[in-house]
Amino acid sequence: MRLFLLLLGALLMSSPANAQVRPKWTLVIHGGAGIIERDRVTPEQETGVRAGLQAALDAGTKVLEAGGSAVDAVEAAVKILEDDPHFNAGRGAVFTWDGKNELDSAIMDGRTRAAGAVAGSTTTRHPVSLARAVMEAGPHVMLSGAGADQFAREHGLEQVDNSFFGTPERRRQLEVLKSQQSNWFDVDLKYGTVGAVAMDMHGNVAAATSTGGLTGKRWGRIGDSPIIGAGTYADNRACAISATGAGEFFIREGVAHEICARIRFKGETAKQAADTVMAETKALGGSGGVIVVSPTGEMAWSFNTPGMYRAKASAGGERVIAFYGED
Ligand code: GLY
Repeated sequence: MRLFLLLLGALLMSSPANAQVRPKWTLVIHGGAGIIERDRVTPEQETGVRAGLQAALDAGTKVLEAGGSAVDAVEAAVKILEDDPHFNAGRGAVFTWDGKNELDSAIMDGRTRAAGAVAGSTTTRHPVSLARAVMEAGPHVMLSGAGADQFAREHGLEQVDNSFFGTPERRRQLEVLKSQQSNWFDVDLKYGTVGAVAMDMHGNVAAATSTGGLTGKRWGRIGDSPIIGAGTYADNRACAISATGAGEFFIREGVAHEICARIRFKGETAKQAADTVMAETKALGGSGGVIVVSPTGEMAWSFNTPGMYRAKASAGGERVIAFYGED
């Protein structure tokens, strides 16, 4: 008994009084970054985006509260955002130059570092679920175009006509882009890609990202979202990341893997690593942002744009939904 009390005392003395207790689960989501400023976002947009983020948090929270996996949680959250036309993913995705929707997505399980990705899918309602099927049901990591949709059909995933994804607002944005011809990168300077990262009750992390890419994209252009290590990455030894922004720069910087590597090898916090890598991406010319969770319970976001649609929740923690840089 005396020995037990001595050991207990030593243990208590070795833990600082203010040591952070790891929350049971965490969840962070984003709905895109860019020139998101108070005087540019209409009240209707603000209400719609807020409701979408809220619903996605609800879906992920439900999974995590019930003891479900981080992979299930990020897929559930992203599916909600894919169905919401306020975001550039699934229904509401931006148009290609030819007036179609080509969808990219990825998912990664930090427990096993298994990953699945899809680029240029055109008929699968939920690209994130297709990415998950690639991760779990096939020998490959990345599928593209018609073959990806064929794989989805063979695995029983819901198919829709490509016109299901289009909206009048996205059509207008394509027409504006075509008439301007100058700023091909993004007509609205908003990258409405969606993503989610989570840590579950077992301390496993996962990440998922989904996007329509860039308005007016051509030649089968693929951004960072489905590139494992650029727009999406998860590793239980470090963190889970989902990015949004000007994909070409995120690919060149290897943003998601770079953040995980800094945490793993330099011992940086998630916030330190994300801020450093976003600054480096900006130096290359790339704008956008990232969300991060770590297996130790950290939640972070970082963006080099005026705003980012973002939200977070954790077991016993406060729910936050934020849009602007100063929020
Ligand atoms: N970040 C999304 C894209 O560039 O496609």
